Amino acid sequence: DKQRLRIAVLGTGYLGATHAACMAELGFDVLGLDTDRAKIASLSSGRVPFYEPGLEEVLTRNLAAGRLRFTTDYAEAAEFADVHFICVGTPQQSTSNAADLRYVDAVVESLAPLLTRPTVVIGKSTVPVGTAARIAAQFHATAPAGEAVEVGWSPEFLRESHGVEDTLNPNRIVIGTDSPRVEQVMRELSADQIERGIPFLVTDLQTAELVKVSANAFLATKISFINAMAEVCEAVGADVIRLAEALSHDDRIGGKFLGPGLGFGGGCLPKDIRAFMARADELGVEPALSFLREVDAINQRRRARTIDIARGLIGGSFAGRTVGVLGAAFKPNSDDIRDSPALDVAATIGSLGARVTVYDPEALENAERAYPQLNFAHTMVEAVRDAEVVLLLTEWAEFRDADPDELGKVVAEQRIVDGRNALDPDHWRSRGWTYRALGRP
Ligand code: UDX
Repeated sequence: DKQRLRIAVLGTGYLGATHAACMAELGFDVLGLDTDRAKIASLSSGRVPFYEPGLEEVLTRNLAAGRLRFTTDYAEAAEFADVHFICVGTPQQSTSNAADLRYVDAVVESLAPLLTRPTVVIGKSTVPVGTAARIAAQFHATAPAGEAVEVGWSPEFLRESHGVEDTLNPNRIVIGTDSPRVEQVMRELSADQIERGIPFLVTDLQTAELVKVSANAFLATKISFINAMAEVCEAVGADVIRLAEALSHDDRIGGKFLGPGLGFGGGCLPKDIRAFMARADELGVEPALSFLREVDAINQRRRARTIDIARGLIGGSFAGRTVGVLGAAFKPNSDDIRDSPALDVAATIGSLGARVTVYDPEALENAERAYPQLNFAHTMVEAVRDAEVVLLLTEWAEFRDADPDELGKVVAEQRIVDGRNALDPDHWRSRGWTYRALGRP
C-alpha cells in the first residue's frame, strides 16, 4: 500500500537530502532532485556532500534497496511522482532582511508546466506567511492539470546534526491545507509516526507557515533571554550558569535552549527572525515583532563582548598579537558555517590586527573557502601554538575534553575565553590558566 505513493523531493540540501533518505527509509519510493549536478552525482554514489551524523548510512541503505534515486531532470520527477515536496533554501536577501524566494519560485516555474495529472505539492521550505497561497494560485494558473494540482504546507523542524532522528521522530507533524486530498496523502505518508503517537495537526496554509517561524522566533528569544541575563550577571558578578540551572527546574520554563554563551547562528534562526520581522512590516503589524529586533541585538552583543574579554586579557589591543580559535561551525557536530558566531568573532579579531589561527573538527574546508584572510590548523594543538589568548567558540566534545596541561605546553600565555561555557573553570584555573567566560565571575 505504502509503495503506491511515489515521492519527489525538490532540493537536496540539509533538509531535502535528509527528507528524501528518511522517506525512503519509511518504505516509500523516492526521487530526489537538485539542479546542482555535483550534489546529485555525490548523493547518487552514496556520499552526503555535507556533515550530518547518521545520514550516509540511511542514504546508502536505501540506494541499495532501490527505493531512492536522484536526478537533475524535472520531467523525470513530474513523470514519476504523485507527491512533490519543496525543500529548497530561502536565504536572507543580500540587500534586506526579507527572505529570498528565488529558489522556491524556480521550483514552481520548472515544475508547474510539467504537471499534466492530479498531483499533490507540499512545501517544507521556511517561507514568509502568504507564500503558500500565492504558489497554489500559480500552480492552478500555469499547470496543465490546473486545480487538480493541490498544495499543502508542512513545515520542517529538523535540527542540523540531528536531522535523521528529527525527521523520523518529530515532536509533531503539521500540515496546512484546505484540501481533503492533501490531508489524506499527508496522513498516509505519516502513518508510521501517527501510529507511534506523534501529534498530527491540520491547519490552514497561513497557520502552518506561521508555526515554523514562530517556533524559531521563540527559540531565538529563549537564547537571547538567558544571554540578556548573562549581561546583567556580568554587571554584578553573578553566575548565569547557576541562574539558568535554577530557572530550569521550573517546569514552565524548562532547561532547553537556555544555554548562555556566544549565542545563536546558523542558516535558520538569524535569518528566520529577520525575515519574520520584514514580513510583519509588510502586513502592517511591525510593532508585534519589534521585540525580535532586541533578540537579534542581544545576540550580536555577545559576539562583541567575547571580543572585548579577549582584548582585555591581552592588554587592550589585538595589533600584532597571536590568537588561537577553537571552533568554526555555527554549532558542534555540523560543518555548517552559515552565520557562524565563531567565524564572525575570529574574522573581527583578525581585522583588528591579530594573527588568528582556527581549528574545527569538521568545518575547516568550508571555513577556509569563506575566510581566506584567516589561518587554519589541522589540529587543536597547532591552532593554539604560541597563542597569547585562546578562544573556545564552538563546543565540540573534542574541546570540552581538552587537556589544559597539553595545551598549556604550547601556548605563549595560558589565557582562555570560553565563549560557550563548555569548560570547568575550577579545573582550568587549577592548571594555571586565566579562565574567562560569558556571564560568569
Ligand atoms: C534550528 C531549530 O532548532 C530547528 O527546529 C529549525 O528547523 C532550524 O533552526 P539549527 O539551526 O540546526 O535548528 O540549530 P539549533 O540546534 O537549534 O541551534 C541554533 C543555534 O543556537 C546554534 O548556534 C546554537 O549554538 C545556539 N544555541 C542553542 C545556544 O546558543 N544556546 C542554546 O541553549 C541552544
